[in-house]
Amino acid sequence: MRISVFGLGYVGCVSAACLAAQGHEVVGVDVNPTKIDLIGRGRTPVVEERIGELIAKAVADGALRATSDAAEAIDATDVSLVCVGTPSARNGSLSTTYLERVAEQIGRALGRRERRDRHRTRHTVVFRSTMLPGTCDGLLVPILERASGLSAGSGFGVAVNPEFLREGSSVRDFFDPPKTVIGEYDAASGDVVAALYEGLPGEVFRVPVAVAEMAKYADNAFHAVKIAFANELGAISRALGVDSHRMMDVFLADRKLNISPAYLRPGFAFGGSCLPKDLRGLVYAARRADVSVPLLSHVLPSNEEHLRRAFDLITASGRRKIGLFGLSFKPGTDDLRESPLVELAERLLGKGYSLRIYDAGVSLSRLMGANRDYIESRLPHLGDLLTNSADAVLDHAEVCVVGCADAAVLAALDRAEDRVIIDLVRLPDAETRRATPGYAGLGW
Ligand SMILES: NC(=O)c1ccc[n+]([C@@H]2O[C@H](COP(=O)([O-])OP(=O)(O)OC[C@H]3O[C@@H](n4cnc5c(N)ncnc54)[C@H](O)[C@@H]3O)[C@@H](O)[C@H]2O)c1
Repeated sequence: MRISVFGLGYVGCVSAACLAAQGHEVVGVDVNPTKIDLIGRGRTPVVEERIGELIAKAVADGALRATSDAAEAIDATDVSLVCVGTPSARNGSLSTTYLERVAEQIGRALGRRERRDRHRTRHTVVFRSTMLPGTCDGLLVPILERASGLSAGSGFGVAVNPEFLREGSSVRDFFDPPKTVIGEYDAASGDVVAALYEGLPGEVFRVPVAVAEMAKYADNAFHAVKIAFANELGAISRALGVDSHRMMDVFLADRKLNISPAYLRPGFAFGGSCLPKDLRGLVYAARRADVSVPLLSHVLPSNEEHLRRAFDLITASGRRKIGLFGLSFKPGTDDLRESPLVELAERLLGKGYSLRIYDAGVSLSRLMGANRDYIESRLPHLGDLLTNSADAVLDHAEVCVVGCADAAVLAALDRAEDRVIIDLVRLPDAETRRATPGYAGLGW
C-alpha cells in the first residue's frame, strides 16, 4: 500500500519504519525540517531499539522518504496515518490543535486531488493519535469535510486506530501487538486499516470510532492505576515491615481473581462483608504509620459515587413507586452486610419513596446471625417490603431498579412496558434497550 504518515515522533517514526519494512511504500510528513532532513539521510529522529537500522534500510531501498509538503504526500498515497502529538493543554484538557491543523491540510489536499481527478481511489484518513471520544466524529471529520468539499464515507474514508506501543520496545510492540483496534467510520475504511496489519499477531477489534478512542484511555488509565496501586502497597508494606515483592509474588500468582478479567466490568458499587471492611482497615493502618495512600483512600469514596449516581437516576424519573430487584451484595448469596442495594433502599425509604423488593436469595426467615442483626438494625421494615415474587414487585413499580438479573427478574422485566428501568447490572439485552426511552444504564 502507499501510505503517508503525518507526524514523525515516536509513534509516526515507528509506524513509518515498520510499515516500510513490511513492504509498503511510505512517505513521512512533518513540520520539523530537522526530522525530514534526518530521514532523508537514512537516520532516525527518535531513539528506539532497532529503529536506526529499519530506517536506514527502508530509505536505502526507496521504501521510505520524508517531506514537509502535505499535499504532495496525499497525492502520492492512498492512506494517511495521522500520528501528531496531542499534548495536555494548561488546564489539563487534551490539545487537539495539531490534529485540527493536519485535518485541515489533508482536507484541502483531498479536495484539490478530487478536482484534478475524480476517478482516483478513495483516500482513507486514519487517526493514530490518542484522542477523547467524539474528537474524530465531532471535530476532525467536519474539518476534513469542510476543507475538502467531500463527504466522509463517500468522498474519503476515516478510521481511528490507536497505538499501543511502549517507548523503548516500540518496534517489537509493532510486530507483536497486544491487539489491533480499528474504529471504523464505515466497513471499507476498516478494511483498509485491517489490510495494513495483515499477518501481525493479536486479536483484531473492529468497533465504532468512539469505542476505539476510549479504549486507549482505558488502557493508559488502567496501567497508571496498576502502578499507583502497587506503589501504595509497597509503601504500606515497608512501613509495616513486610517485603512487598514477596507479597506481590503471591498476589500476581492469582490468575483467577487478581490478574484476570474478574471485577473489571462497569456495574454497581461493591459491598459485602470483606471489601469495604478490609479497605478501611488497610487505609487506617497506613494512616497510623504516617503513609499517605491517596489511591486506596479514595476507593470507598469512589464507590459511594456509584450509589449516589444510581439514586439520582431513580429520583430523576420523577416517579415514586419503586421496584427493587436484588438486595444482597451480590447475586447468589443472602448476605446483606454492607450491600449497596440495602443502602440504596434505605435512602429511597428515607426520602419517602414507596418500595417493594425482590431477591430470590433473601427471605427473612432464612436470615441468620450477623446478617439478621444487620438487617434488623439497618432496615427494620424489610419484612414489609420484601415480596416472594418478581412479578409482585413489577406490579407495584413505576420504576424498576435492576440490581440482579436472575431468570425470574428477566421474565418480569419482559412485561415492564412503559415503566422506567434503571439498570445497575447491564441486562443481557442492554444494547437494544439503550435506544428505548425510559431505560438508563448506570455506566453504559
Ligand atoms: N509516545 C508514545 O509512546 C505513544 C504511544 C501511543 C500513543 N501515543 C499517542 O500518539 C500521538 C503521537 O505521540 P508521539 O509521542 O509520537 O508525539 P511526538 O510529539 O513525539 O511527535 C509528534 C510529531 O508531530 C509533528 N507535527 C506536529 N504538527 C504537524 C503537522 N501539522 N504536520 C505534520 N507533522 C506535525 C511534530 O513535529 C512531531 O514530530 C499522541 O497522541 C500520543 O498521545 C504515543
